[in-house]
Amino acid sequence: MEREVGIIGAGTSGLLACKYVLEMGFNPVVFEARPGVGGLWNHTIKTTKLQNPKQAYQFSDFPWPSSVKEDFPDHNQVVEYMESYARHFDLLQYIKFNSRVIGIEYEGASDEDIASWDLWVGTGDPFSPQGKWNIRVEENICRKSTEVYQVVFVILCIGRFSDVPNIPEFALNQGPEVFDGKVIHSMHYSSMDDVNAARFIEGKRVTVVGIQKSALDIANECAMVNGVENPCTILYRNAHWKIPHYFPWGVPLALLYFNRFAELMIHKPGEGFMLNLLATLLSPLRWLQSKFVESYLRWKHPLKKHNMIPNQSFNKDVSACTTGVTPDNFFDRVEEGSIILKKSATFSFCKIGLMIDGDIAPLETDVVILATGYKGDEKLKNIFISSTFQKYIFGASNTTVPLYRECIHPRIPQLAVIGYSESLNSLYTFEMRCKWLAHLLKGTFKLPRIKEMEVDVLRWEKYMKDNSGEYFRRSCNSLLHIWYNDQLCKDMKCNPRRKKGFFKELFEPYGVMDQWTMRISNLIET
Ligand SMILES: Cc1cc2nc3c(=O)[nH]c(=O)nc-3n(C[C@H](O)[C@H](O)[C@H](O)COP(=O)(O)OP(=O)(O)OC[C@H]3O[C@@H](n4cnc5c(N)ncnc54)[C@H](O)[C@@H]3O)c2cc1C
Ligand SMILES: NC(=O)c1ccc[n+]([C@@H]2O[C@H](COP(=O)([O-])OP(=O)(O)OC[C@H]3O[C@@H](n4cnc5c(N)ncnc54)[C@H](OP(=O)(O)O)[C@@H]3O)[C@@H](O)[C@H]2O)c1
Repeated sequence: MEREVGIIGAGTSGLLACKYVLEMGFNPVVFEARPGVGGLWNHTIKTTKLQNPKQAYQFSDFPWPSSVKEDFPDHNQVVEYMESYARHFDLLQYIKFNSRVIGIEYEGASDEDIASWDLWVGTGDPFSPQGKWNIRVEENICRKSTEVYQVVFVILCIGRFSDVPNIPEFALNQGPEVFDGKVIHSMHYSSMDDVNAARFIEGKRVTVVGIQKSALDIANECAMVNGVENPCTILYRNAHWKIPHYFPWGVPLALLYFNRFAELMIHKPGEGFMLNLLATLLSPLRWLQSKFVESYLRWKHPLKKHNMIPNQSFNKDVSACTTGVTPDNFFDRVEEGSIILKKSATFSFCKIGLMIDGDIAPLETDVVILATGYKGDEKLKNIFISSTFQKYIFGASNTTVPLYRECIHPRIPQLAVIGYSESLNSLYTFEMRCKWLAHLLKGTFKLPRIKEMEVDVLRWEKYMKDNSGEYFRRSCNSLLHIWYNDQLCKDMKCNPRRKKGFFKELFEPYGVMDQWTMRISNLIET
C-alpha cells in the first residue's frame, strides 16, 4: 500500500498518468468503468476523427504506426493507438476494467486541520503517514459488488466530456415534457452504434441545438442521411470561428499562434516588467493576427450570407478553446439546403417542435438533439464524498475550477487532476502534466505554500477571464501553452528552452515533438 497510487480512468490522461508514475517506481492501480482503454474515443459518432494532425496528437515516446496513413485518424484508429500504447508500456496489468469509482474519501485529517494548513498535505510533501484515500469501487463483471481500496495518492483522470450532460433549463410547461417528439443529448446519440444512430435520425426532421464540434458533426451526419428532403436545423445562440484547415491564406496557424513570438503579444500570469511592456507594445499585432485569420474565414465560407459572423474575435475563440475544425463539406450542405442555420438567443418546446425568438410559428421537428456540452465541473465534484472537498474543487460559478498548475487543489491533499483544463492539443498538455506530477511524487520539487498557490490560481483565473470572457470556466490555456509548460519545466528543474538557436526558439511552434528527445530520465539537468 505504501506506494500505491489510485488512478481513476483509463482514457488518454489515465494511461499517461499510469505510465509516468510507474516509471517513478510507484504502484499504480487504475480503475476504469468501461471494459477497455481509450475513454471517450470508444463512444463517438461515426464521423469523429482527430481535429489535430496525428503528429501533434501523439505520445512523445510512441509515434503513430506507419500503417496509419491518414493525417487525421478516425476514432477507431485513435482507440487502437491507445491500446497499443497501453500494451507497449505494459500498462494493462495495472488496470481494473469494469470498475466504476462511486466515491473517494480522505482519511487522516479533519476539515479543520486541513483548513489550518500552511503547506499542502500539512508538510508540503505529497504523502503523509496518516493520510490515505479510500476508493469505493463498483465492480460489475459477473454481479455488482462494492469494494474499498486504500491508496496513498489519487489521480483523477475521469475526463470532462462525458457522463454529466449540460441540459438547458426551461420554464414550467416549456421544456421537453410538452413535446411530442424525441429529445436526447449528443452524449446519448454518440453512445449509439452507427446503425442505430442512422436509424434514429433517418427520415426525421432533426434539430440540433448548439454550434460547437458535436453539433456540427451530428448535423453533418444527419444531412448525409436525410439530404434536402428532411433538412437538419442547427439552432444556436452564438456563432464561433471554425477553421476548414490549419493554413489560413497559406500560413501555418501554428506559426501564427503556437510559438514564443505569438505568446509575447499576450499578458501572462506572473510576467515581469519587460514581458508586460512587450505585450502592451505588441497588442496591435495581436489584433492584426486575429483579423488575418478572420479575413480568410470570411472569404472561404459564406459566413455573412448565413448570418454566421461571430461577435467575438478569432483570438478569443482560440483562447477559450471554442474554435475547431469545420466538418468536411459542411458549408456545401448549408448551401444545398440539407443543413439550415437558425440563430436564437433562447428557445422553448411546444407540442410539435420548438418556439424560437422572433418566429410566430413553431419550428416543426421530430427529434431534438441537445449538443449543449457537458458539466465537467459537476462530474469532478461528484466523485468526492466530502461536501467540503466538493466545494473546494468546484469553486464557484464566478471562479475557475481552482487547480494549481491545472492539476493540484491547494486544499485537497494527496490528490491530482489531469485532463480537466482544456487546450487545443490535449494529449501534449496531459503528457507534460503527468511528467510534472510524477516528478512531484518522486520529490524532485515541492509545491509552494498554499497561499502562494492560491495567488497563482487567481492570476491564471484573471488571464482566462481577460482572454476567454464568459467562457473562462473552460479553463483553456491554448494561447499560453508554452508559458504554462515553461512553469512545469522550471518546477521539474529542466531548461524550458528546448529549441536549438534563437530564431527557432522564437518562431518555431512548440509541440509534442520537442519532447521527443525529452524522455523523463534525461529531463532533469545533471
Ligand atoms: C468527441 C471528442 C473528440 C475530441 N477530439 C479531440 C481532438 O481531436 N484533439 C484534442 O486535443 N482533444 C480532443 N478532445 C478532447 C478530449 O477530451 C481529449 O483528447 C482526451 O481524449 C480526453 O481524455 P481523458 O482521459 O481526459 O478523458 P476520457 O477520454 O473521457 O477518459 C476518461 C475515462 O475515465 C473513465 N471514468 C470516468 N469516470 C469514472 C469513474 N467514476 N470510475 C471509473 N472510471 C471512470 C471513463 O470511462 C473513461 O474511460 C475530444 C473530446 C471529445 C468529447
Ligand atoms: N475531434 C472531434 O471531432 C470532436 C467532436 C466532438 C467534440 N469534440 C470536443 O469535445 C468537447 C465538447 O464539445 P461539444 O460540442 O460537445 O460541447 P461544447 O464545446 O461545450 O459546446 C456546447 C454548445 O452548446 C451551446 N449551449 C450550451 N448551453 C446552451 C443552452 N442552454 N442553450 C443553447 N445552447 C447552449 C453552446 O453555445 P454557446 O457557445 O452560446 O455557449 C455551444 O454551442 C470540445 O472540446 C470539442 O472540441 C471534438
